[in-house]
Amino acid sequence: MKLILGIESSCDETGVALYHTERGLLAHALHSQIAMHNEYGGVVPELASRDHVRHVLPLIREIAAQADCKLTDIDAVAYTQGPGLSGALLVGASVACSLAYALSIPALGVHHLEGHLLSPLLSKPAPEFPFVALLVSGGHTQLMRVDGVGKYTLLGETLDDAAGEAFDKSAKLLGLNYPGGAELAILALTGTPGRFKLPRPMLHSGDLDFSFSGLKTAVRTLSKQHTLDVQTRADIACAAQEAIVEVLASKAMAALKQSGLKQLVVAGGVGANQQLRAQLDRTAKKSGSRVFYPDLEFCTDNGAMIAFAGALRLQQQETKRDYRFNVKPRWDLQELNIG
Ligand code: KG4
Ligand code: ZN
Repeated sequence: MKLILGIESSCDETGVALYHTERGLLAHALHSQIAMHNEYGGVVPELASRDHVRHVLPLIREIAAQADCKLTDIDAVAYTQGPGLSGALLVGASVACSLAYALSIPALGVHHLEGHLLSPLLSKPAPEFPFVALLVSGGHTQLMRVDGVGKYTLLGETLDDAAGEAFDKSAKLLGLNYPGGAELAILALTGTPGRFKLPRPMLHSGDLDFSFSGLKTAVRTLSKQHTLDVQTRADIACAAQEAIVEVLASKAMAALKQSGLKQLVVAGGVGANQQLRAQLDRTAKKSGSRVFYPDLEFCTDNGAMIAFAGALRLQQQETKRDYRFNVKPRWDLQELNIG
């Protein structure tokens, strides 16, 4: 199994990539639907599915040309099987399985979070197993012990909103565009640290769980109490980011301490946040640990992580040429565990 086509279509990004097990990532391309959904203030599932239909095949042709490959050179197709929006997932799954059937090669459903989790292994220097992973995306916030491909132990997770959701909901209250995390981080750059102090939910709870829903309420209250001039918006953004980052960094460090491991991997869209990276690097240095991040373009959803996770899985398991497919909009990562 050498050349793997990866297809990601779980939410609002169509991502495709060609990964070669010896030559690495040959080509990847992404179409983001953010501008289309922005007008509605969030992802509209039906529009997302239709847009994936429009873009997936042209993107596959584009990367095949970039990598100077023919479709017949592909040895397997990996696609995001879940979790995500069912209609959106079905587009990737049906294209992947039809293509695999036509080419008479295996098709493999990949867990979206496993893609994120393993994505730092695409960058250099790469972490080595075992490590602790902080998974911070728009829908998930989890701390996971990773002992190898398919060896995942959940250490802690959010009890309500994900960290990305906390960024996005705070951003919305400040009048920023969807999804808001990256825009809020930019606005926070001009904020006055310390003008506002927001709660750090569950910081001292003694476990590795998170809770972010109270933060959005605190941001709402603050934004009602003040005139939202440019500086005040920036100051609130700064306070919201500080609160989220402090909780994430502190719990991630506690997870390292508890597990006795020295490597932390950060994956998912919120992993692009520069303040989170700076704080994690600072605290990790003090404890003699090291933090690994995917390249910025592979923090948010992309096809490369799906092709890569598919390649690792295919090295491990028997390949079945079974082209019946189903999608798993809800799917617990630990169900993947082997052995
Ligand atoms: O992993 P991802 O692309 O999609 C999901 O699987 O959910 O994560 C998207 C999330 C969004 O909530 C977005 O606002 C957030 O990642 N995000 C950021 C930044 N860039 C993306 N949050 C904070 N700072 C950023 N720079
Ligand atoms: Zn994601």
